[in-house]
Amino acid sequence: MAVTKKIRVGIVGAGFAAGFHIESLRRVYGFEVELAGVTSLREESRSKFGAEHGIRVFDSVEAMLEHIDVLDICSPPYVHEDGILAAASAGVGIICEKPLTGCFGPAGAGDEFFGNHADKKQMLEEVIGRLKRIAKAVRDNNVVLGYAENYVYAPSIQKEREIIEKTGAQVLRMVGEESHNGSGSPVYGIWRFAGGGALMGKACHPLGGVLYLKETEGLARNGQAIRPVSVSARVHEITRLEGYRDAGFIRTDYHDIEDYGIMHVVFDDGTVADVIASELSLGGLTDYVEVFANNHRTLCRISPTNLVDTFNPRGDQYEDIYTIEKISTKEGWSPAAPDENFTVGYHAEMQDFISCVATGSSPQAGLDLALDTIATIYAAYLSNETGGIDTEVPRL
Ligand SMILES: NC(=O)c1ccc[n+]([C@@H]2O[C@H](COP(=O)([O-])OP(=O)(O)OC[C@H]3O[C@@H](n4cnc5c(N)ncnc54)[C@H](O)[C@@H]3O)[C@@H](O)[C@H]2O)c1
Repeated sequence: MAVTKKIRVGIVGAGFAAGFHIESLRRVYGFEVELAGVTSLREESRSKFGAEHGIRVFDSVEAMLEHIDVLDICSPPYVHEDGILAAASAGVGIICEKPLTGCFGPAGAGDEFFGNHADKKQMLEEVIGRLKRIAKAVRDNNVVLGYAENYVYAPSIQKEREIIEKTGAQVLRMVGEESHNGSGSPVYGIWRFAGGGALMGKACHPLGGVLYLKETEGLARNGQAIRPVSVSARVHEITRLEGYRDAGFIRTDYHDIEDYGIMHVVFDDGTVADVIASELSLGGLTDYVEVFANNHRTLCRISPTNLVDTFNPRGDQYEDIYTIEKISTKEGWSPAAPDENFTVGYHAEMQDFISCVATGSSPQAGLDLALDTIATIYAAYLSNETGGIDTEVPRL
């Protein structure tokens, strides 16, 4: 895409992700960003969002496309593909929230659809079809696709990228986790909107981080990305166990998803990564990637990063003070985040995506990383169905 003076961004979705995208887009430097439009499913919510942020409101993605240079997709996963295909065919750049896409059951499926019990071999085949369609549309139309995997852009992961590149490290094993006490989105927990549970919604983050670091290692060594070849996985529905004792602190109202998952990923050089995700974790986020290499070891903290610890003896004192995402109480010690959008990578991802759209270069987190992430997760669901057998990750 030619260098444009001003990059006009149109947002799909007016919820949680759209909010932090706007905050980060407003901090982009070196390029002029115009927030040129917003659209979402419900008229009421898009109008409210547009008024709050001073952005023009459109009835649909199609109506917005001719007014923008980038479509920033912050809608739920089941509509990501529609947005990507529409933007690509209009020659418009794309920023897409994680997960890129998934399998959402038969068209028009309702509450009678239970994704957790659906055939996972069929799901993997369907998702590969979707990934191929997306890849073709993006490549044929030569548009930039920024995959909004913030772990890639977290300063701690970028430090590790530098260490791997400059020391020629061989990464032998990694461990990554994203856990908390349950998403705030009303459609999370319903497979037909989210495409899965803890593996899709949460494990995709540390998985994106570990795939990126092995890709980095290979590119630094000989220009060949090291890619995932197989995965074994287990998932569980702990909050729906008959004997689960609900103490009221953990979200439990899931329709058909897992609330715990673990994946053991094998790369094409024989090295490994273990990725954990759960909705069962109190005390805020538990988000990290730990790297064990042949010449160093690094713990990349995503959240908390331990920059600030604050002790508050009485909750109401901090009523209008933001501390950190998902902390369920502000009493006692809190690992407060002074600038969460920076430490979790939201700011840097928007900077990279806008710069790539303006200059035509390739984002750190782009199409290939997004494709490998989804192929690995759906191979993991298939592995779980077989009791955890090592399962090939289809290569796109
Ligand atoms: N990177 C991160 O840390 C992070 C954090 C939260 C969410 N996300 C991702 O962002 C996306 C949105 O999640 P959220 O938490 O903001 O959800 P949300 O429910 O808060 O907001 C979703 C928005 O999309 C709109 N929407 C729903 N269906 C639509 C449709 N068919 N067409 C257009 N708009 C539609 C809704 O009206 C709502 O405004 C998801 O893909 C999620 O995985 C990423």
